[in-house]
Amino acid sequence: MKIGSLQIRGCAALAPMAGVADRAMRELCVSYGASYVIGEMASSKGISMHDRKSAELLQISDDERPAGVQLFGDDPLTMAKAAEKALEYKPEFLDINMGCPAPKVAGNGGGSALMKRPELASQIVRECVRAVPIPVTVKMRIGWDAENLNAPYLAALCEQAGAAAITVHGRTRVQMYAPPVDRAQIRAVKQAVSVPVIGNGDVTDGRSAQQMLDETGCDFLMVGRGALGRPWVFRQIDAFLERGEIIPDPPLEEQMRVMLDHIRSLCAYKGDYIGMREARKHAAWYIRGIRGAASYRNRIGQLTTIEQIEALAADILAENGT
Ligand SMILES: Cc1cc2nc3c(=O)[nH]c(=O)nc-3n(C[C@H](O)[C@H](O)[C@H](O)COP(=O)(O)O)c2cc1C
Repeated sequence: MKIGSLQIRGCAALAPMAGVADRAMRELCVSYGASYVIGEMASSKGISMHDRKSAELLQISDDERPAGVQLFGDDPLTMAKAAEKALEYKPEFLDINMGCPAPKVAGNGGGSALMKRPELASQIVRECVRAVPIPVTVKMRIGWDAENLNAPYLAALCEQAGAAAITVHGRTRVQMYAPPVDRAQIRAVKQAVSVPVIGNGDVTDGRSAQQMLDETGCDFLMVGRGALGRPWVFRQIDAFLERGEIIPDPPLEEQMRVMLDHIRSLCAYKGDYIGMREARKHAAWYIRGIRGAASYRNRIGQLTTIEQIEALAADILAENGT
């Protein structure tokens, strides 16, 4: 697939996930074959007003390229100004958030609220395309609610405004993250535009990846929650789509090693205090499905040092017969 002139290899990208898919997780997913990554959404207002926390969200390391940065907001000129500022971080492309359901974003007119105002949404794309020399992409849902499934229309407007690719999460804003994913609507978007369409929603393994491709005709895949505690999912998807091969999850020993590497990297980027607090949710995802997970979860809730998580990983390995 190509995003503008940017050649993308492999089959699936890591979805942007605020508070989760940070630099540590993105680098790890790229090491397991994620084709590209997108940073956590950053406020265009925050960026244009030099807010330090917003700017931190745009940082990209050389180990996670190709990478995009994502902006949210509802004012075309502020978005364009923020897009220009984002160039400082040398992203390969810029993504515009038209899917976020959170009240603090959609309640202010940004994210999924843009789906209710297609003309404004396309104006944002047009201004950003004008402002930056890199490809501009859009990530949307299938509509605000079941009565307003306007993603094909919005996607076509965005394409006319210069968008280089469209990612569609196959749910409405009202649905939030509840099932089902409406693949027919993703297909309708694919038929409405000629730029690449990236299918997103409940892709968690090779088979669901194949199903998304078959039922939507989309050009590429994006995986969000399926990568939580399972960064190796990208390797599994590639193996299935390229060779029909089903690769099992790695042995528990490797899983625990990856978890520890992930948490060490989190601490290296964010400091031990914040890193260990954020490590708790990741650790809980890594141990999902392991025998005795409920009791390990209690220990995870108390984690404050890397030594504690190392001891937990050692206990998990000892108690699970490796
Ligand atoms: C914790 C969390 C944070 C998210 N943050 C963002 C975000 O910053 N920008 C965005 O476009 N989508 C965001 N999403 C939506 C995902 O990118 C993705 O569209 C959604 O989770 C559906 O894909 P999945 O079923 O593979 O998880 C977020 C999702 C989750 C679960």
